[in-house]
Amino acid sequence: MRTDLCDLFGIDVPIFAFSHCRDVVAAVTNAGGLGVLGALAFSPEQLELECRWIDDHVDGKPYGVDTVMPMSYAGKDEGLGKSDAETGKVDASVFQQMIPEETKQWIERVLEEYEVPPLPDDLEFGDSGVGGGGTGLLGWTEGGGRNHVDVALRHAGVKLLVNALGPPPKDIIDLAHAHGVKVAALTGAVEHAQRQKQAGVDIIIAQGTEAGGHTGEIGSMVLIPDIVEAVAPTPVLGAGGIASGRQAAAAMALGASGVWTGSVWLTVREADISPLVKEKLFSARPKDAVRSRSLSGKPARLLRTAWTEAWEREECPGTLPMPLQYMVCSEAQTRINLAARKEGAKARELVGMPVGQVVGRLTQEVSSADVIYQFIDEFIETVDRLRQTLDAANTEQA
Ligand SMILES: Cc1cc2nc3c(=O)[nH]c(=O)nc-3n(C[C@H](O)[C@H](O)[C@H](O)COP(=O)(O)O)c2cc1C
Repeated sequence: MRTDLCDLFGIDVPIFAFSHCRDVVAAVTNAGGLGVLGALAFSPEQLELECRWIDDHVDGKPYGVDTVMPMSYAGKDEGLGKSDAETGKVDASVFQQMIPEETKQWIERVLEEYEVPPLPDDLEFGDSGVGGGGTGLLGWTEGGGRNHVDVALRHAGVKLLVNALGPPPKDIIDLAHAHGVKVAALTGAVEHAQRQKQAGVDIIIAQGTEAGGHTGEIGSMVLIPDIVEAVAPTPVLGAGGIASGRQAAAAMALGASGVWTGSVWLTVREADISPLVKEKLFSARPKDAVRSRSLSGKPARLLRTAWTEAWEREECPGTLPMPLQYMVCSEAQTRINLAARKEGAKARELVGMPVGQVVGRLTQEVSSADVIYQFIDEFIETVDRLRQTLDAANTEQA
């Protein structure tokens, strides 16, 4: 499975793994791939601790950090969402004022229907360990993303900076390069990939609509070769619907120099997701991974739940633009996750998470290292099988 990207990063296999969980990131990096930590839900201080932990567990091997600096979000053109020059904090209150009462009331109605109680008095919002903390602004703005980048670049093990929802600002790309760090960006459309290349991005992640999380409308089979041709010779990682060696071989046959994966790491032994969500993922089929704006305001592929379905109802006032949608939902998510801890609670129907169509392949818990080894074995088998078709044709000709 060796490609130029293996030499560029000093890794054994060009399998790039996105995860919010540091244990998965370290396990993938230690197994010869490249783990990339999703920074979105971490404060800069938490991210610093996560990176230190990874540094201590990968013995100098490379890893990456993923930020979310969207090309567009509510208030961006008016200069909102930047970090304060002195404190480094991003002002969430201006966004909170933009949230309509109607949406808050709608959410309360859904929570009431599913018997979700208010937060207990002794619990501070964000305490439930479900990543909903504080205002819910998370790293969804340029300022939040910049704070994450500042932390990431302090760690010598970080060799890759990835940005979702558009290329990072030019000065961030230059800063990363000055630190010897490569920059990758996710995209679901050829025009966006060309813009990213022009902005100076080193690796384009061509992500098909099958993917978990934010995703476009074009399938990987069409998107990957189109982007490979449009940005050549810039290397491309194929993404969206890749959870096995056969799927990796297909992406690489389409011209990708490696693969970028997300959903497959949700159910590995090292992943820190709740037993309820793991169970739901194990029993889900590809059609249960639906594209919905109900999480962040932009289309993202999520597990179909009573929550995603509520936002499709006729009487629903509609979702809000990023970052307002997650802000208005984050306290509700914390309440839902707390209520769902009780066996048999109706709130359990609302619990879900982003996942791609490959969810149908996630049927049992295995270690991250085993996922990597299975990828390699299946990739070899696939390429051998294809080579035999060539050998057979050559024998016939002779
Ligand atoms: C639970 C989950 C959360 C995600 N969060 C982010 C994120 O914060 N930033 C990001 O760049 N991509 C995020 N993604 C997308 C992944 O980086 C990756 O592009 C995608 O999962 C690839 O498709 P696959 O799910 O079919 O493997 C997320 C994906 C999942 C499944």
